[in-house]
Amino acid sequence: MTYSKILGTGSYLPEKVVTNHDLEKIVNTTHDWIVERTGIRKRHVAAEYETAASMAEHAARAAMKAAGVTPEEIGMIIIATTTPEKMFPSTACLLQQRLGIAGCAAFDLNSAACAGFIYGLSIADQFIRNGTIKKALVIGSELMSRIMDWSDRSTCVLFGDGAGAVVLGASDTPGILSTHLHADGSHHDVLWLAVTVGKPIVEKQGAFLKMEGNRLFKLAVNILGQLCDETLAANALQREDLDWLIPHQANIRIIEGMAKKLRLPMDRVAVTLTEQGNTSGASIPLALDKTVRDGHIKPGQLLLLEGFGGGLAWGSALVRF
Ligand code: ACO
Repeated sequence: MTYSKILGTGSYLPEKVVTNHDLEKIVNTTHDWIVERTGIRKRHVAAEYETAASMAEHAARAAMKAAGVTPEEIGMIIIATTTPEKMFPSTACLLQQRLGIAGCAAFDLNSAACAGFIYGLSIADQFIRNGTIKKALVIGSELMSRIMDWSDRSTCVLFGDGAGAVVLGASDTPGILSTHLHADGSHHDVLWLAVTVGKPIVEKQGAFLKMEGNRLFKLAVNILGQLCDETLAANALQREDLDWLIPHQANIRIIEGMAKKLRLPMDRVAVTLTEQGNTSGASIPLALDKTVRDGHIKPGQLLLLEGFGGGLAWGSALVRF
């Protein structure tokens, strides 16, 4: 029996940091409102020269170094991004060229938004378990700053830029225990970025992220609760068996709600949104990498990864680290 296992993690954050106090100068908001309603204190913003592929390269190289894997060993590259440099070629192909490799499958997942990394992990897991490939790079890389309406206080205070990556590899012992993917298109109008093909991607009309935050908040709490139950039940496990929750980093109140439901103390929950904001498809691998590099996650521990985003699309992965 072949399983897939996380062999290494890596991440990248742009140098520039924008604090809530910086935002007070450009929109009608306060540091206190942002912290109280979201938990966010600061976020990283990419420099003009940076792209989803350039940030993905930093994260991918860090993950490969941690895994002791060379680019030539990679059999598949999947990048979750809602902010590709171009509609095509894919960010994954641009990364492939940057890594100096060719031949392996490489594609983007931009349709699952913030759940994109979980979707990518699930796809790579299937290919490894059925023996088609031995190793995959699964990455989330986002430049949310490029799709923000910086005059809209209801969205621009929430997001940040960054990239996170894992190397997934074939293993005799279980790593990814199960993945669970869902979507419900009836909520397509709760979070969206309307880009018309044929018009420049950064055109002013309709090129910004739009969100009905309050509606999304309620939907998220509901679906994530069901998702946790589904994931544990599929593995005949109890809440008490979990060591870590690695959630999508959208709002501290949503994360605390999940921790409470799982009866996990907050020191068993990866929280990076305070320093990074919501980095969409990059937030789960960024949170995972930080918790691993801080030395908190130990080999053999049980991790629940979960995310939700535009679509709505949502998903989870239960991982034996
Ligand atoms: N500063 C000050 N006031 C603000 C700000 C701001 N930045 N933004 C909104 N407000 C005001 C609103 O105008 C409103 O004022 P009003 O009562 O006078 O009309 C008031 O604050 C309350 O607004 P709500 O939207 O009801 O505030 P809420 O408590 O719901 O918090 C938030 C808003 C933080 C967006 C919350 O709804 C949320 O986190 N939703 C989930 C969002 C999410 O998960 N997004 C990401 C998922 S997918 C992805 O990651 C791409």
